[in-house]
Amino acid sequence: MTRSILILNGPNLNMLGTRQPEVYGPTSLADIEALCVAKAKEMGVTIDFRQSNHEGALIDAIHAARGVHAGIILNAGAYTHTSVALMDAIASVALPAVELHLSNIHAREEFRKTSYISRVVVGQICGFGAAGYPLAMEALISYIGDS
Ligand code: DQA
Repeated sequence: MTRSILILNGPNLNMLGTRQPEVYGPTSLADIEALCVAKAKEMGVTIDFRQSNHEGALIDAIHAARGVHAGIILNAGAYTHTSVALMDAIASVALPAVELHLSNIHAREEFRKTSYISRVVVGQICGFGAAGYPLAMEALISYIGDS
């Protein structure tokens, strides 16, 4: 069976390309999705690539991943630093997950150094801009293959 992964993007990531390009880079979310589709083809997996500005919609997407996807890549945006509910959602579905950020959250404001998501994921990739997405796919697929 072809393995499928959910790539979930949180608030304000629909603004990529024009949103603080000095921090997040010049690549739009549609271009990042195209990068992921190409990487998925190369790796022989399928992806479901989504974005929502709403915490509840992100939680619903995580719940719906159970039994459908082999793992989750989550760029939770600012919810990373605030959302116990998203952390609990990842923990409840018991799917391997990778936390992803375009920017290096550890080199920015103090409040960005706290991640609720980190407590429930296999690992975190941050600081590599759009290139972090295919990196996260490799990391997740390699982890799933070993588990
Ligand atoms: C982000 C980092 C978060 O701190 C920020 O709120 C975002 C984007 C990133 O990809 O670098 O919205 O998750």
